[in-house]
Amino acid sequence: MKNYLTLLLLAVLFTSCSHQKPTFTKDDISIIPKPSSIQLHESAFEFESKTKLVVTEAAHKKAANYLKGLFSTSAGFEFSESTSKTAAAVIFETVEGLKEGAYKLVVNPSQIIISASEESGFFNGVQTIRQLLPSEIESTNEVSVNWYVPCLSIEDEPRFKWRGMHNDFSRHFIDIDEVKSFLDYLALYKMNMYHMHLTDDQGWRIEIKQYPLLTEKGAWRTPNNQDTICMERAEENKLYTIDEAKFKTIDGERKYGGFFTQEQIKEIVAYADDRCITVVPEIDMPGHFKAAIDNYPFLSCNGQSGWDTVFTHPSCLGKDTTYEFMKNVLSEVVDLFPYEYIHIGGDEVNIASWKECPLCQKAIKDNNLKDEHELQSFFNRDIEQFLHSKGKKLMGWDEIVEGGLTKDAAVMWWRGWRPEAPKKAAENGNELVITPTDAYYFDYLNEGNTLEKIYNYEPVPENFTAEEEANVLGIQANLWSEWIPSFKRLQYQAFPRMLAVAENAWASKENKDFEAFNARVEKQYPRLDELGVYYYIPIVKGLDKTIAMVDSTKVKLELAYPLEGVEIYYTTDGSVPTKETTKYTEPFTVSDTVEIKARAYKGEIFNDIKKTKVEQKVYLNSEAIEPKSKGLKRFLISGKLKKVEDIKLKTTTKYEVVDSVDIADFKGKKPVNMVFSGYIKAEKDGIYQFETRSDGGDYLYIGDTLVVDNSGWHGPRKRYGNVALKAGWHPITIKYRPSDKPRVISAWYGMQGKDLQLINSTVTGF
Ligand code: ACM
Ligand code: ZN
Repeated sequence: MKNYLTLLLLAVLFTSCSHQKPTFTKDDISIIPKPSSIQLHESAFEFESKTKLVVTEAAHKKAANYLKGLFSTSAGFEFSESTSKTAAAVIFETVEGLKEGAYKLVVNPSQIIISASEESGFFNGVQTIRQLLPSEIESTNEVSVNWYVPCLSIEDEPRFKWRGMHNDFSRHFIDIDEVKSFLDYLALYKMNMYHMHLTDDQGWRIEIKQYPLLTEKGAWRTPNNQDTICMERAEENKLYTIDEAKFKTIDGERKYGGFFTQEQIKEIVAYADDRCITVVPEIDMPGHFKAAIDNYPFLSCNGQSGWDTVFTHPSCLGKDTTYEFMKNVLSEVVDLFPYEYIHIGGDEVNIASWKECPLCQKAIKDNNLKDEHELQSFFNRDIEQFLHSKGKKLMGWDEIVEGGLTKDAAVMWWRGWRPEAPKKAAENGNELVITPTDAYYFDYLNEGNTLEKIYNYEPVPENFTAEEEANVLGIQANLWSEWIPSFKRLQYQAFPRMLAVAENAWASKENKDFEAFNARVEKQYPRLDELGVYYYIPIVKGLDKTIAMVDSTKVKLELAYPLEGVEIYYTTDGSVPTKETTKYTEPFTVSDTVEIKARAYKGEIFNDIKKTKVEQKVYLNSEAIEPKSKGLKRFLISGKLKKVEDIKLKTTTKYEVVDSVDIADFKGKKPVNMVFSGYIKAEKDGIYQFETRSDGGDYLYIGDTLVVDNSGWHGPRKRYGNVALKAGWHPITIKYRPSDKPRVISAWYGMQGKDLQLINSTVTGF
């Protein structure tokens, strides 16, 4: 085997380079995830209708079939298979010793050789060939191009064996055809795990034959408040439009929903398997279970169903019938999904319901459990044993760590704010999938969990030992669908961020570089365009804050980052910007009180609208004084106050002189209200922006004009306001009413559109 490969390699290097074919450069190539190593050579291999696939083992089949499918659709080529190694062929060759998913690829002018040790390696090799081909390979129509693949050698293997994506079918449903498209995207980027969140409060999405009401009724809902908000958003952004096909009239009422029959589930599992993707079902229990409890009320504690203060009432863990129901459901589920793990959720359980339930309390007592967390663990263990009896293992969200868990359960860490959970699981020897809110929650907007943040996120926690790291199966991104009512919006949330997760899951830490990755992402867009994938494009900047003016102002818009082919369109009459409205070319003047709305377009792809108001201001005159002292007076007023406006200064209130607006030594101490007052300097006539940050609440005044309203009762947060100031000194007052644990009061100012500076003694006096 080894000799054969060496010979082939020599053939590549010395003999068979044909000069009619093009030679490619590194810049022509964009492979995501980035391969471990690439050696680029001269010339190219060209796929033609007569190209043969040399397939000699069952392990080659899925990869060969996928390659055939691609060419059949976009080139009209129907490749035939051969068992002997001929020229003008793609040769699949099984070798020993490569890890799961790994492959080697050698392309020379007359042959392509893919070697791997098992089927997913071959499949991944084909995906690399796919990304080396012109993007027209993704076309759904027959096109005529030269199907060149650059001559090269690649050695490649994944960092993690779990390279996952998740869809939430409950909050908003996507149908089987959409699922198949999504699986094709996963395949393209060498992702191999597909997590289906099939049940939740808002809908049950998998047929269970023993409990038909789960889907007859539980799959259909009266449109809820999230549907209503999505429909409102759809007026400005059609990606929020809920597909008509997902509505159905039942007993005269228009309902939203959908579900998969067991036959469809089998079809999905088989479709995924053809792409070397494993499907992991999630049946979330005992919380997030309203869709079942509504239709089988015996599952509840005290007959309760529906929402409590934060989560829904869970199923009762003091009744045998609950355990029986869960097991009956899971019996049907385990038969449909071949993978060893079954995900049982376990997140966000409203344990308060169990505190009030005599049956749950009896179960705690009878089983010598400490509390409701242990009751959930008791339930988990019972379910786990049941799954074992079916040859399966239990997986759950990281809440399952709380009441103790067996070594056998696998944990999905999602609560970014609970870093102790993965550590506890890892110390206990449990397998882990890393999917924290901080990076891998793709329901969060692109402006929050950005491509760069995701890419640079190191999934293995720093405090893991090497042994604990070995228990990290891999990573996954989640697409919770409360605000994702359409497949197009789902694509917008997933792309291009999924490419960052794909590369994080695949490439070694040392082999990663954001700038280089980003350049490769740009080269993927023509491919995504061919696939009809809707992706995120840079948002318009410049309208993040209200704009103030006296007579007129210039409005400057820009893109959050440059991307070829992206243009900005805007309106100033409140209407929705489209490609028919004004195209932004340079800063424009506004001299009226208007609302500006803008969005970017790349071809037919558009993004979320950014908007702001332009406010007309009247100059505040400065006072004819020259402060004698630098800094501000700080008055302290004790007593618990309901509102910031309750702060009252008496003429007798004593003050100290301070350099800046600062909480100083009062942080974390008993709350004391504060007033800062004095004068602040405006260097020249113009619009000034003031900003405060406080906990509890504050107001900032210039003279009698309230400029920043940061009142209410809140944790540390920023608010801003604009004011037109004539050059000179202006009276400033800041009133701060801290929260019960005083944290912060700070203030900044500056000319609108410029960097703000901290308000301190260089610009204040009295
Ligand atoms: C979750 O996001 N509740 C797992
Ligand atoms: Zn109960």
